[in-house]
Amino acid sequence: MAKLLVPLVMLGAVAGGSHRCPPRCLCPAAAPNPTLLCARTGLLAVPPTLDRGAVELRLADNFIGAVGRSDFANMSSLVHLTLSRNGLRRLAPGAFADLRALRALHLDGNRLPALSGPQLRGLASLRHLILANNQLAAIEPAAFAAFAATVEDLDLSHNNLPALPWEAVAAMASLATLTLDHNLLERVPAGAVARLPRLARLDLTANRLRALPPVPGPPGPSLVAGGNPLHCNCELLWLRRLAVPGRLESCASPPPLAGRLLWAVPEEELACRAPAIAGAVAQPAAVLEGQPLRLGCAAAGDPPPALHWLGPDGRLVQNGSRRALGADGSLELRVATLRDHGAFTCVASNAAGEAAARVEVAVLPLPVPHGDGDGGEAEAAGPGPSDMARAGGNESRATGERRVVAAEVTGSSARIRWLPQRHVPGIRVFQVQYNSSLDDSFVYRWVPAGQKGGFWGGGEHRV
Ligand SMILES: *[C@@H]1O[C@H](CO)[C@@H](O)[C@H](O)[C@H]1NC(C)=O
Ligand SMILES: *[C@@H]1O[C@H](CO)[C@@H](O)[C@H](O)[C@H]1NC(C)=O
Ligand SMILES: *[C@@H]1O[C@H](CO)[C@@H](O)[C@H](O)[C@H]1NC(C)=O
Ligand SMILES: *[C@@H]1O[C@H](CO)[C@@H](O)[C@H](O)[C@H]1NC(C)=O
Repeated sequence: MAKLLVPLVMLGAVAGGSHRCPPRCLCPAAAPNPTLLCARTGLLAVPPTLDRGAVELRLADNFIGAVGRSDFANMSSLVHLTLSRNGLRRLAPGAFADLRALRALHLDGNRLPALSGPQLRGLASLRHLILANNQLAAIEPAAFAAFAATVEDLDLSHNNLPALPWEAVAAMASLATLTLDHNLLERVPAGAVARLPRLARLDLTANRLRALPPVPGPPGPSLVAGGNPLHCNCELLWLRRLAVPGRLESCASPPPLAGRLLWAVPEEELACRAPAIAGAVAQPAAVLEGQPLRLGCAAAGDPPPALHWLGPDGRLVQNGSRRALGADGSLELRVATLRDHGAFTCVASNAAGEAAARVEVAVLPLPVPHGDGDGGEAEAAGPGPSDMARAGGNESRATGERRVVAAEVTGSSARIRWLPQRHVPGIRVFQVQYNSSLDDSFVYRWVPAGQKGGFWGGGEHRV
């Protein structure tokens, strides 16, 4: 008897309720707030007749393959939304834009391939975001922006993530639980986790991590990281010290430790090896000013050493447009200048120490054209003051007319214009010389005569 009554009561609620209830859903009138229960009802899409004042909406275990921009429009009272196990593949940008009050969003057990910036826009109160068991292979940093301050529980487990937008994660000031197990993560950047003040639990089980940066504590967050191919060297001493029998972190390398549980490895076997530089060369060893040159450096050590370069002036070489640092530790001088003449130093460093090697670089000065009516001073010895000051020659100085003008100057470009010049026999190219404030030295570019009307006819060049 009671069994029969319950559906009748429910039906009564549906029919008599003041809110519209989508077909096949239950909308119990007894619930304190408008609640729409539509789980397991065979839905193929979000019903269009949803009560926009609903506080709770359950749509789990249906066949909703896509969520459109207006499916949840105006539902600004919604606190709890469940879309679990729907085979959901497509999520329109802004689909949740009106859900300002939403605290829990369950999207687990779907087929979302990636998260782009606008897809989770508007979720300004979100506390729990459950994205486990999808096919996520990429997440844009902006995807998490709306709830960076509020989210407490982020579950991305059982996806295909090779990387995370760690900067965006590190900004989640309220984050308490971060669940990342069963992904393809290869790296957790140092400091990414240390910056999360509320973090209580971090699950990194079954990823592809070879190294783990120290997590703060004790009492830090509880960390589990079994099932990763950890390289057990001195950098994992911190984890070894936390490790108690029964912990599952194990070593994949170096060979003598492969397959052993980390807690069972004596601390003294977790060793590092200081860098040794195998070779450092310049190719070619000597170039004309203005030509490119590559410096290579190879170093071994455990962990693999980081490489950097000091210039002939003893200063650290920064990555830039003229001096480019490669991921392999090489240094490319795209346009060698006289300031590059001398000894560069390759420095290799890791947790166990440092090593250095010098590489001699010879930069030969270019011959400087004479007889352009401007005195023809020998400049070959080094970069002099900017030609721009003199470029107009004597007559322009007298008249105050500027013969060479830099216009449209931005942080990285300028348009150089010049007026017709007197012809100098034998000159077929001219040189634009500019000061790259990035590395405080001159850069030379050759521009063939004839380009944009030619040198003698005036023209322009972009740098
Ligand atoms: C949402 O509200 C706006 C403004 O009141 C209205 O124009 C629009 O039709 C509503 N959308 C839905 C899906 O109810
Ligand atoms: C240097 O900058 C270039 C782009 O300008 C970038 O591709 C490269 O990865 C950078 N190298 C390092 C070591 O950061
Ligand atoms: C350069 O200018 C000065 C003063 O304006 C003038 O006395 C001199 O004759 C000029 N020289 C040439 C080579 O034009
Ligand atoms: C290049 O420009 C910077 C900034 O304007 C200046 O400090 C520096 O001295 C200049 N370098 C040369 C070689 O003129």
